[in-house]
Amino acid sequence: MVTISAKPKLVTVFGGSGFVGRHLVQALARRGYRVRVACRRPELANYLQPLGSMGQIQPIQANLRYRWSVDRAVEGADHVINLVGILAESGHQRFDAVQHLGARAVAEAARAAGAPLTQVSAIGADINSPSSYARTKALGEAAVREIVPEAVIFRSSIVFGPEDKFFNRFAAMARISPVLPLLGGGSNRLQPVYVGDVAEAYARAVDGDVEGGRIYELGGPEVLTFRECMEEMLRIINRRRMFVSVPWPVARLQAKVLGMLPNPPLTPDQVKLLQIDNVVSQAAEEEKRTLNGLGIGAHSIDAIVPSYLWTYRPAGQFTKPQH
Ligand SMILES: NC(=O)c1ccc[n+]([C@@H]2O[C@H](COP(=O)([O-])OP(=O)(O)OC[C@H]3O[C@@H](n4cnc5c(N)ncnc54)[C@H](OP(=O)(O)O)[C@@H]3O)[C@@H](O)[C@H]2O)c1
Repeated sequence: MVTISAKPKLVTVFGGSGFVGRHLVQALARRGYRVRVACRRPELANYLQPLGSMGQIQPIQANLRYRWSVDRAVEGADHVINLVGILAESGHQRFDAVQHLGARAVAEAARAAGAPLTQVSAIGADINSPSSYARTKALGEAAVREIVPEAVIFRSSIVFGPEDKFFNRFAAMARISPVLPLLGGGSNRLQPVYVGDVAEAYARAVDGDVEGGRIYELGGPEVLTFRECMEEMLRIINRRRMFVSVPWPVARLQAKVLGMLPNPPLTPDQVKLLQIDNVVSQAAEEEKRTLNGLGIGAHSIDAIVPSYLWTYRPAGQFTKPQH
């Protein structure tokens, strides 16, 4: 429970302008915090300001690759949370620079400022992973644990919600294409988790209600294969599509070509990532390092996804579900 004092506490949210960020910023604003949204293009974060009262949400320019800008963003903060992550490399945005060294820079700045730290990672983070995304997420976690041992670290499975890049993307594809690709047959397992639930968990860490020095794994109530996720999406948008299984070697080849596009829909690194199950580990379940363990009841796909995928239904079926 947050007591609103004369000067509400200030939270710096690195990556607060992104998909997960906007939900966290809103959750923090509702709790009465002042929120500093730190990202490279703060002008794109201006849309967040109406989520709070006058002056409560302030975008600021910061780039995890420039340590001085990280220090400036952390100045005076009562809590720091790092949401920055990239799914593909481009220009100077390399996995190591952003997810490993960037996480280290945030941890050093938080430590120097004496502010508690929450770090956002991903399920699958593993120093030995063949995927650079997953490897550098693990290196970022290790740097955070070395510098701020009492930091809270969250890993999540794939996150869904309005504006997600998962269900929205495949629903958009299903609208125009008669077939949907299933990489490796679509047998990899996912545990999609609602963005509102992960934002609530992160906000509770800011409240000081999550025990530090531990890694939490956040997943939704259902474990589904990629194929089952696609079937669920098609059911929601009321369309029938054929699935085409794409063997991994072919997927790797396609990703090599697509990976050269400026905003690649698939990269070779993502193909490596997709080959590994993305679900909460048994150890996390047993030790209650989960949403359930934090007392957060996870929302199911069916409770949330129809409320934003209905626009992908065939013409004449645009009835927004009533809840
Ligand atoms: N979405 C998922 O399904 C999912 C699943 C598992 C884990 N996660 C993790 O959750 C976190 C948030 O994901 P998301 O989906 O919200 O990502 P997102 O929508 O891509 O947002 C990324 C944010 O990071 C900022 N950013 C990127 N590079 C930066 C840099 N060098 N310095 C400072 N800010 C930078 C972006 O703003 P600018 O571009 O303006 O800088 C943006 O605010 C990430 O760490 C991600 O790995 C997400």
